[in-house]
Amino acid sequence: MATLDRRGRPLGSLRISVTDRCNLRCQYCMPEPEYVWLPRTDILAFEEICALADVFTGLGVDRVRLTGGEPLLRTDLPNLIRMLAARPAIRDLALTTNGLLLADQAAALRAAGLPRITVSLDTLRPGRFRELTRIDALDAVLAGLTAAAARFDTLKIDTVVIRGMNDDELLDILEHGRTLGAEVRFIEYMDVGGATRWSLADVVSRDDILRAIAARYGTVEPIDEQTSAPADRFRLADGTTFGIISSTTAPFCSTCDRSRLTADGMWYLCLYALAGTNLRDPLRDGASPAVLRRLIESVWTARDDRGAELRAAAADRRPLIPVETLRQSPHLEMHTRGG
Ligand code: GTP
Ligand code: 5AD
Ligand code: SF4
Repeated sequence: MATLDRRGRPLGSLRISVTDRCNLRCQYCMPEPEYVWLPRTDILAFEEICALADVFTGLGVDRVRLTGGEPLLRTDLPNLIRMLAARPAIRDLALTTNGLLLADQAAALRAAGLPRITVSLDTLRPGRFRELTRIDALDAVLAGLTAAAARFDTLKIDTVVIRGMNDDELLDILEHGRTLGAEVRFIEYMDVGGATRWSLADVVSRDDILRAIAARYGTVEPIDEQTSAPADRFRLADGTTFGIISSTTAPFCSTCDRSRLTADGMWYLCLYALAGTNLRDPLRDGASPAVLRRLIESVWTARDDRGAELRAAAADRRPLIPVETLRQSPHLEMHTRGG
């Protein structure tokens, strides 16, 4: 009973942002000095998130990822995980974090029933970490990764690669992942809302990444698999695997089955979408699950998005949204939409 969009793509994966706030200021996501935050009264309670999740799973969603902002900033997050983990329709439950608070929280997250986790790690050099994130906290992130490696069977590391920033660290990060038993995914720098400093010249392409890795490790073998995951996976001669998410130079919109719910209950179909659907108001106005289901179904079946493909085809590529517009419309920010 898959719900298909106009391109035949199923409604399969829901990314739920639990807060728009973050405790880092990564240059590729939050480079500005000031941000406008969502009003607190608009933020969905856990019961509201679960009520919506139930409608989504009724329409075929079976993978849920908690995001932010930084999800570990949300008070009592393990309670939400416990509630979601108890729902058998959610076949795959995961969380993406910047790792800063993970050393303290890894045990509670695992105990609440979170099966797997992904941590962002863009550099292993303390000074560079501070430059990239504006916070001097690499040690905390590394401690968080170590704590997670000890508790979670599946641990992934997400590394956004930026020319002149961390493109000389790919091999070090790969080695660090290997020692932790974590699969590293290199992500092309994307021109999403919020990436106001983006320029094409700073993008390190999938081909560049593969060349750098092959120069050190020899043959890099593509792993042949059909999934809706954004990462293409590769294997080195010693068995180490890694992924590349090439949204900028080789978009994967044709198999995209994901959508995003912001912390205040706006539903976006595409990372690049300029408009979304307000699910909070109908929910708070007492709409029944059947009414919410019809709303969500009607929006998904009309979906035609292929944001990254359209961006890749654009003649003159520059940041998607001007800073002034982002200030008026924080929902256009990647940190609000949850990646
Ligand atoms: P798994 O493969 O299931 O572990 O998860 P994932 O890769 O979907 O999750 P993750 O949050 O780790 O995603 C990694 C990054 O890929 C995101 O932060 C984005 O940078 C990028 N990404 C995720 N989803 C999309 C998408 O739908 N479109 C585009 N263009 N990029 C995406
Ligand atoms: N390009 C690529 N990925 C991004 N992320 C945020 N902004 C960008 C961007 N401009 C994603 C990355 C990162 C997580 C915090 O959000 O996956 O690890
Ligand atoms: Fe999906 Fe939009 Fe990303 Fe394409 S750009 S993969 S349609 S979220």
